[in-house]
Amino acid sequence: MGRLDGKVAIITGAASGIGAATMRRFAAEGAAVVCADINDDAGAQMVTAVQAAGGVAAYHHTDVSSLADLQAAVAFTVDRFGGLDIIHNNAVWSGGGFVADIDPEIWERSLRVMLTGVFYGMKAAIPAMLTRGGGSIINTSSIEAFVAEMMAAPYNTAKAGMINLSRTVAVEYGRKNIRSNCICPGVVETPLFEMLVQMTPKSRAEIAAAHALGRLIKPEEIANVALFLASDESSAITGTAIIVDGGLISNSPISGFPPFGG
Ligand SMILES: NC(=O)c1ccc[n+]([C@@H]2O[C@H](COP(=O)([O-])OP(=O)(O)OC[C@H]3O[C@@H](n4cnc5c(N)ncnc54)[C@H](O)[C@@H]3O)[C@@H](O)[C@H]2O)c1
Repeated sequence: MGRLDGKVAIITGAASGIGAATMRRFAAEGAAVVCADINDDAGAQMVTAVQAAGGVAAYHHTDVSSLADLQAAVAFTVDRFGGLDIIHNNAVWSGGGFVADIDPEIWERSLRVMLTGVFYGMKAAIPAMLTRGGGSIINTSSIEAFVAEMMAAPYNTAKAGMINLSRTVAVEYGRKNIRSNCICPGVVETPLFEMLVQMTPKSRAEIAAAHALGRLIKPEEIANVALFLASDESSAITGTAIIVDGGLISNSPISGFPPFGG
């Protein structure tokens, strides 16, 4: 018995990192999973790997900055697997820089992938979920929704914005049995992180040490939470943002004052 037996899911950005781990986990728990990505080679490899492990999977080329692409992905999924129960809006692309230096086109493109792309995913998926009698929407936000990283205004803004977008869907569609939640990871060991760590002056060890757990997060640890939100085990959870950060934002950067007050 799998925890997602009989369910059908779309995961955007599932050709890599967190999305890939979630795709493997959902499929292992019995869901049919569509990898919706722009990296066709990596997406096809994911599908082959999931099928080789006994799972049910398909790939659909989908640029989340296009509503037509997301609607086509949903139509493909319903046609191939008979319906849609879960969408995990997870794809990412972001430019950055200090605010006064950000090219407006970079800002627009970033928000179009990370925030409008989530709106498009929801807009495309909700009608199919209503036909099915409900569903679970999962959006990958970030701790950057709560704290601001320098040179990441588009990222910080999109990740914060999607939480209230998600909450809005929760209140609008709760009575139709559609739930909508966000996951807010800390620093996760994915190809995105591996690329970024080469570009930052901070070492991998320093970044790991900033987490209360003293280590980075594995993509599978985010996939576990996505699985919980996708499954009926979280049936009373909607409109929330679950922080999965290994204690990163609990860890005060000014820790170390001596005890006081007697
Ligand atoms: N890695 C971290 O430390 C971390 C921390 C917090 C939040 N997140 C969030 O987790 C999510 C996944 O990140 P990751 O680290 O796994 O990244 P990743 O770079 O490993 O994977 C991102 C995937 O998104 C795909 N993609 C990019 N643009 C797309 C588009 N327009 N349409 C469809 N697919 C597109 C890429 O091809 C890739 O497969 C993102 O939303 C990211 O912001 C990551």
